[in-house]
Amino acid sequence: MKIRIVGGTIVDPGRYKGPGEVWIEGGRIAALRHPGEPEAHFGEGGGEPYRILDARQKIVAPGLVDLHVHLREPGFEHKETIASGCLAAVSGGFTAVCCMANTKPVNDAPEVTRFILERAERAGLARVYPAAAVTRGLEGRELCDHAALKAAGAAALSDDGRPLVDSRLMRRALEIGAEWGLPVIAHCEDPYLAAGGVMNEGPTAAALGVPGIPNACESIMVMREIALSELTGAPVHIAHVSTAESVAAIRAAKARGVRVTAETAPHYFLLTEEAVRLHGANAKMNPPLRRERDRRAVREGLADGTIDVIATDHAPHAPAEKEAGLAEAPNGVIGLETALPLSLGLVAEGLLTIEALIEKMSINPLRILGKGGGIIPGLPADLTIIDPRPRFAITAGLIRSKSRNTPFLGMQAWGRAAATIVAGRIVYEHGETPRG
Ligand code: DOR
Ligand code: ZN
Repeated sequence: MKIRIVGGTIVDPGRYKGPGEVWIEGGRIAALRHPGEPEAHFGEGGGEPYRILDARQKIVAPGLVDLHVHLREPGFEHKETIASGCLAAVSGGFTAVCCMANTKPVNDAPEVTRFILERAERAGLARVYPAAAVTRGLEGRELCDHAALKAAGAAALSDDGRPLVDSRLMRRALEIGAEWGLPVIAHCEDPYLAAGGVMNEGPTAAALGVPGIPNACESIMVMREIALSELTGAPVHIAHVSTAESVAAIRAAKARGVRVTAETAPHYFLLTEEAVRLHGANAKMNPPLRRERDRRAVREGLADGTIDVIATDHAPHAPAEKEAGLAEAPNGVIGLETALPLSLGLVAEGLLTIEALIEKMSINPLRILGKGGGIIPGLPADLTIIDPRPRFAITAGLIRSKSRNTPFLGMQAWGRAAATIVAGRIVYEHGETPRG
């Protein structure tokens, strides 16, 4: 497919912002044509005609990358499959996702990694970068064969869903990750301090009569990961930052040169523990929604660069599972379809520039994965066309995931993906049935 994206504003952070055309051929970016440059310069050269994509009043961005999703396959296909998760991804504007290892079986062996990649290939929608487990079975006892996992196609290491309590193993994981070029994504939780907790420890938990999870559950382990990164000199990436104390610790660590990066998710900068009253188990996730001062701190961390990445922690669960009651229901909310529409609000309100948002949703996640990206001739044509104009309320009609567990229904959206292009193929166009 040959495509010319015309009339849009190109936003490729750190490289170019302004009007221009993107020409795509053979799955790659063939040219970035600035206004006034002669067409002949790029030599259409006959053959198949270009499909023209009209991007007027839209933003042409490098493809969005979600560094933290749960695709559930193998093992939990009633919640999500790799195909349904990838459909949710591209409909939300994501050209790639990094999927966590807490499947059944766990992605702790090369055959599981290969299975995930085969399924993703077959779905033919988003790119999938599998995170392999740090420890066998996510049990925190024995390290996996990370060299074999890397050879099979693993892109990161994480025991996400479970904390890795043994600091000696985490130290080794950081060293091995640095050696093999696999970022270690740390799910920071002290399981002893969290034990029995259902939601944030605070007035709402007290009012609802359920056990709470204090902020220190997270920040204790964030501070440990920072200490281990300093000890080893190896990088570490902190998943789903939810507390003011974590933000402060990461900010201070970065200021003294520690190789720490961090992500948060839309629920942490938009919602507080109050949402649990309204949405019950659909506002239950781990780490839990915190208080207003934490929400503010996460936003400040996004604004000043302490938090590098907006990910979703897309964690689908079946309706019956979420209906089990607040205490019994599993943790997690979906997020692939709503992350961009909600995060564009940060630009509308002036907290982030559009460049900063695209950095946090595309450039930085790729950098953490050790991959390049951008609208550069010769690179694979992974692009997201963003329409920042539509204002609408989030409805279930937006959801392509197999699951529906979201606290965002009814919230204000500030734009959406108009089209998603992976390797030069249009895999999603707003208003059209996605092609598989
Ligand atoms: O809310 C969460 N859901 N947090 C996790 O760490 C795991 C995830 C899941 O797998 O459902
Ligand atoms: Zn996690």
